[in-house]
Amino acid sequence: MVKKKWLNEFLSDKYVKDANREGFRSRAAFKLLEIDEEFGLFNNCSSVLDLGCAPGSWLQVAKRKTKSKRTVIIGVDILRYKLIQGVTQIEGDFQDESARKKILTAFNGRKIDLILSDMAPNLSGIKVVDGENISNLVNLVLDFSLENLHKNGCVVVKAFETGTGSREFRKKLANYFEKVWLRKPLASKKVSSEQFLIAKTLK
Ligand SMILES: C[S@@+](CC[C@H](N)C(=O)[O-])C[C@H]1O[C@@H](n2cnc3c(N)ncnc32)[C@H](O)[C@@H]1O
Repeated sequence: MVKKKWLNEFLSDKYVKDANREGFRSRAAFKLLEIDEEFGLFNNCSSVLDLGCAPGSWLQVAKRKTKSKRTVIIGVDILRYKLIQGVTQIEGDFQDESARKKILTAFNGRKIDLILSDMAPNLSGIKVVDGENISNLVNLVLDFSLENLHKNGCVVVKAFETGTGSREFRKKLANYFEKVWLRKPLASKKVSSEQFLIAKTLK
C-alpha cells in the first residue's frame, strides 16, 4: 500500500516528468537549474567539482551549461554510476583522505571555480547522531573549499535544518565568504528539511 502510494506520487511528480522529458537522470537537476538561474553559477566557470554526484543529473547540468571542451568537470560518489562523456569520475567516500587526494590529483594543482555538494549521509532517525554526521560532512566541504576554491569561486552545499542546522552553518560560511545565501528550490520537496547554501568569493 505504502509502495503504491509512493509510486503514484513519483509518477505524478512534475519534476520527474520534466526530468524524463529533458533527459536528466533525476529530478534533482531542477534544484541546480533553479539555483543557477538566480546565481549564474556557470558564468566564467572552467572547473567544477560535484560531490555526491550519482546518478549524475547535476553533472549533466554542468555539462550543458559549460560549453568549452576545456572545462574540467569532476564527479565524486561512493556509488558507481553511468559515465558521462567529458566528466572525470572518482569513486570514493569524500570523508576518506584517499578520495580527497584523488580529487586534488585530478585537478592537478588548479584552483576550482565551482564546488557543488548534494551529499547527504545515511540518516538513522536519531536526531543527535544525524545532526552530527551532517555537520561533519558540510564542515568537511567547507574546509576543502577554503583550501582549493578559486578566490572568486562559488560553493553550493546541501545542508539540513536538523542538528547544528543550516542557519548556524550559514553564519560560519559568512566568516570566510563575501556573500552567502540560503535557498530552498521549488524542486526540493517540502517534506525534506534540505536547504542549499550558496557562498561566493573568498574573503
Ligand atoms: C541526493 S544524491 C545526489 C544526486 C545528484 N546531485 C544528482 O543530481 O544526480 C546524494 C549522493 O551523495 C552520495 N554521498 C553521500 N555521502 C557521500 C560521501 N561521503 N562521499 C561521496 N558521496 C557521498 C550518495 O551516494 C548519493 O549518491
